[in-house]
Amino acid sequence: METSVSNVVCSINFGQRFQYDDPCFRKLVQSIYRFSEIGTNASAVNYFPILRRLPFPELKEVYEIEKTMKDFMYGMIENHKNTKKPGINRDLIDGYLHEIDRRKEEGLNDEASRSFNEVYLYHTLSDLLFAGTETESTLRWGILYMIKFPHVQAKVQEELDSVVLGDELPSWRQRNKLPYTEATLMEVQRMANITAIGFPHKTTEDTQLFDYFVPKDTSVFINLYSVHVDPTQWSNPDEFNPERFLTEEEKVYNHPALMPFSAGKRACPGENLAKMQLFLFFSAILKKFRLTTTPSNPNPSLEKHYAISLCPSPFEVCAYPR
Ligand code: HEM
Repeated sequence: METSVSNVVCSINFGQRFQYDDPCFRKLVQSIYRFSEIGTNASAVNYFPILRRLPFPELKEVYEIEKTMKDFMYGMIENHKNTKKPGINRDLIDGYLHEIDRRKEEGLNDEASRSFNEVYLYHTLSDLLFAGTETESTLRWGILYMIKFPHVQAKVQEELDSVVLGDELPSWRQRNKLPYTEATLMEVQRMANITAIGFPHKTTEDTQLFDYFVPKDTSVFINLYSVHVDPTQWSNPDEFNPERFLTEEEKVYNHPALMPFSAGKRACPGENLAKMQLFLFFSAILKKFRLTTTPSNPNPSLEKHYAISLCPSPFEVCAYPR
């Protein structure tokens, strides 16, 4: 699943998808997931950066991963520099390189123009690849909830079968006719809380927020988890219940307190892409397979496992073709 989800971002970044057994692509994807794991584990060096001078084994691995990422991305950038054509944007790299050229030709030297360079391009490409892992974690939660709550899975499949006929796969255009499937994904996102405290931000000036004074340069985290379990917003917040996102007329109810992509100026820019990916992957899997627990692990845990996002702990699943 990691490779198929990452391939979507690859087609935006590099204008191409990779074969799932391509060794370079596999290495890149494995590096991204491993990096997320190491970057958030309990190692002392993650909390006291000064310790990076000591020979921590994780650090050696991080530097190796960084090299893998850099070799791959700069190789792609170099290749695009040699093959790009004026006025044609095959992908994000082309668009970015053209913007660097334009700003140079126009002699622009403001702060924004100086930030258009290959180092920023490398970081933009890797940020997007890392961000794509959020979608994959959400899908894993979706599968876990479906095997834990087979009656919900059966209802999703009943709805899918009534709208998506024969051997076809669900399409994005059909989602309006699949409210229960959409509501299930919303409930998965509320329960999973994969970005429970968003990303860290810092106040750029003294700020008064209702009764609270927040001085300049304070680190600020938005507690999305608390919003998603707030009993003033949700009845029985600990219960997995997709129906809470349906109106009496069985239409999707966009509850204002559901905000897995956060809010405000720094909210997730990948929200629309992620929603599309989640819907298409989740509905295609459930259309084609009945998912169950395995005899060796009949009651998988819903405990969260902390990587860059909150993932489910590893679990087994049986997928029977439908
Ligand atoms: C289910 C999937 C996803 C979830 C739940 C999610 C959630 C979030 C959240 C909560 C933030 C932090 C917002 C804040 O700091 O207030 C964020 C930031 C971000 N996300 Fe996503 N995201 C998802 C998928 C994606 C995808 C697919 C992309 C792009 C390919 C993406 C790109 C980004 C970027 C670049 C930022 C940083 C934005 C900034 O700092 O201004 N995300 N995401």
